[in-house]
Amino acid sequence: MSIVLDVRNLKVYYELGNGVVKAVDNVSFQLYKGEVLGIAGESGSGKSTLGQAIAGLIRPPGRIVGGQILFKGKNLLELSESEWRKIRGKEISVIFQDPNSYLNPVYTVGFQVAEAVEAHNGGSPKHYIHKAIELLKMVRIADAPRRAVNYPFQLSGGMKQRVLTSIAIANKPELIIADEPTSALDVTVQAEVVELLLELKKELGSSMIFITHDLPLLLEIADRIMVMYAGKIVELGSSHHIRNNPLHPYTRGLLESVRYERKAKLKSIPGSIPSLISPPPGCRFAPRCPFAYEKCRKIEPPLKQVDGRLVACHLFNEGGNDG
Ligand SMILES: Nc1ncnc2c1ncn2[C@@H]1O[C@H](COP(=O)(O)OP(=O)(O)O)[C@@H](O)[C@H]1O
Ligand code: SF4
Ligand SMILES: [Mg+2]
Repeated sequence: MSIVLDVRNLKVYYELGNGVVKAVDNVSFQLYKGEVLGIAGESGSGKSTLGQAIAGLIRPPGRIVGGQILFKGKNLLELSESEWRKIRGKEISVIFQDPNSYLNPVYTVGFQVAEAVEAHNGGSPKHYIHKAIELLKMVRIADAPRRAVNYPFQLSGGMKQRVLTSIAIANKPELIIADEPTSALDVTVQAEVVELLLELKKELGSSMIFITHDLPLLLEIADRIMVMYAGKIVELGSSHHIRNNPLHPYTRGLLESVRYERKAKLKSIPGSIPSLISPPPGCRFAPRCPFAYEKCRKIEPPLKQVDGRLVACHLFNEGGNDG
């Protein structure tokens, strides 16, 4: 399988007055053509920062401090903003949680979709209004020609997220980054929007990074899942492996908390994500981990190949003895 995206030792920090937030701290992974890679983890794990870094959207106080992001072999971190404008929305598209922050209230949605097409094809948005209506049909907006002349406030949340999706796919991107695309929507429309995204991804032959705190959702839709904790990857493997045999205590905790929630008991993992300004030494999960032992508090566990996936935990090693 060919590699679309190759992230190497990426570090993205926020430089604040009271210290440096290490939001993404030495993260490496690859994305294959056509796959859905899910990124899971509690709020504050660094998921959005990672997605924004890949889309060239890190702004001060955020800064990419190290690493490489190779997209089809080209290091995105070396692009100028004008080079980025040719890629963003064309080869790489992003869909965010809140459509309201990205749709302009004073233009019709049809115009905004046409504008997205125009941005990469030239001319004027007026020339692309038919194309815009086609795109609105593609995201299954009923009565698209009539909806195209609506303003965002005239549409439901689910419909606005469909409009944003049509903008994202307007130029047939090779990579779609969806960051909590359904979290702001009613439960009833969430599944529809997820299904739509997956169908479009398949139709376009794109690859997708799907970011969510909802690990059970990823188990259903992702080919592989990367679990992040406090700026680091703790486990990365196929959905099959993560579902049937999660290894990292944090992954197991996430899955268990869901099972408990289903019984309406709501038992989440005790404690919370540590400060990313001065994270604990050793394993960042140690303060919350039921299996933590001395070594965990001193030595950071490296990400290692274990049982067909990658895990960063001292309890596991590549088939040898742990010292
Ligand atoms: N613009 C910002 N300025 C300062 N800190 C930020 C900013 N965005 C995110 N952070 C911090 O970076 C860390 C990771 O956040 P984020 O990437 O949003 O995680 P997630 O998407 O997993 O919730 C958090 O500690 C968060 O407070
Ligand atoms: S390294 Fe130690 S503290 Fe960290 S997850 Fe593994 S057992 Fe728990
Ligand atoms: Mg986020």
